[in-house]
Amino acid sequence: MKILILGSGAREYSIALALKQSPKKTELFFAPGNAAMQKLGTNLNLKDINVIASYAKAKEFDLCIVGGESFLAQGVVDLFRQNNIPIFGPTKAAAMLEISKSFMKSFLKKHKIKTAKFLNTSDLQKAKAFIKTLTPPIVIKADGLCAGKGVIIAQSYEEAFKASEDMLSGKSFGDAGKLIVIEEFLDGFELSVFAVCDGTDFVLLPVAQDHKKLKDNDQGPNTGGMGAYAPSTLADENLLRRIQRDIIIPTLNGMKADDNEFNGVLFAGIMVVNNKPFVLEYNVRFGDPECEVLMPLLDDPLELILACVEKRLKHTQIKIKDEFAVGVVCASKNYPYSSSEKTPIHIKEIPENTHISYAGVSLENEQLFADGGRVLVCVGLGKSIQEARNKAYELCENVEFEGKQYRKDIAFQVLK
Ligand code: AMP
Ligand code: GLY
Repeated sequence: MKILILGSGAREYSIALALKQSPKKTELFFAPGNAAMQKLGTNLNLKDINVIASYAKAKEFDLCIVGGESFLAQGVVDLFRQNNIPIFGPTKAAAMLEISKSFMKSFLKKHKIKTAKFLNTSDLQKAKAFIKTLTPPIVIKADGLCAGKGVIIAQSYEEAFKASEDMLSGKSFGDAGKLIVIEEFLDGFELSVFAVCDGTDFVLLPVAQDHKKLKDNDQGPNTGGMGAYAPSTLADENLLRRIQRDIIIPTLNGMKADDNEFNGVLFAGIMVVNNKPFVLEYNVRFGDPECEVLMPLLDDPLELILACVEKRLKHTQIKIKDEFAVGVVCASKNYPYSSSEKTPIHIKEIPENTHISYAGVSLENEQLFADGGRVLVCVGLGKSIQEARNKAYELCENVEFEGKQYRKDIAFQVLK
């Protein structure tokens, strides 16, 4: 099978690595890809979705897998479908669950799915009046895609007013902030829940947890994610049942009822408050770094993806391994503040039950360089979270590049 993967991060690398282990023979292509992906397939130096679609058609690709939301927001799925090229991901209309936070909140309200109390508005006076009805901290969100930066947790009314004003005026996030969502603050623990859907049926993947802060004990600035693990033992049977019954099923049914069928990865950011799950946000693709720990837990991710694209999930047996995975992100010296000088990567040894998913790297004369914010993810597998974590850190210590920074406490919420 000729498969095209769209993206260039460790998420897309981990998908490629998993596909390479599929019983089906695969030939992989990436657009645009990263330097390490060249070892798994062919990088196409293409970014424009029209050019990518024409190329995919001309070369008779059998499948396209979309990594990130920006391609989805451009309507890549609609375009590929018009060209009869099989593609895994939601249409642009279904991707609105991630593209627009106000759309998502209105959808949740309409379908009576639990989420934080909120107001969508583009009027500063209405924003201020609603803020006054809440107790700080108060959450202010830009409506549009902001690469994970569009959420402000204001500690006072003044800060909430200022955040609203800066967003609505276009000062903080341009057009993405001209409509905002104001929300009550939910105090609990967060889970990343992935339902892989074929429009009607879905498979729930092991529940993961991300670590967004740069430093141990959730200190320091927000990042794109510094590590993840799965399955999380914080999600017991009872909670999982509630998440399916109260969130995933009503969402998929709601999308269908609204004539907006969801096909692809529905990624629910869940806050659990007093054992009750609330939707914080929806994403419409795999999480990064969650994907890097989920891929190795699936027996045959290609079969899962094909079953969704071909709408035959109901008749497909999806096996999930009885194992745990922990992924630790190694980032560059100045991440997430500024770029860092590129520096060579030296890897002593890849221990058993570990592997690396590469992101911000470049290659020169066969030498790999750290050349980006999040450079690579060290993944460890094991029969317990502790064992998987030990493995991941064993690998981390074998990876050297100048300025390497990583959290030492991934999975701390379950390994206190
Ligand atoms: P979002 O992009 O909407 O998931 O927000 C990013 C992060 O902000 C989440 O992962 C949470 O840590 C935090 N957050 C968002 N909304 C809320 C809320 N209503 N209450 C508490 N924390 C929130
Ligand atoms: N790990 C969070 C995200 O991918 O948005």
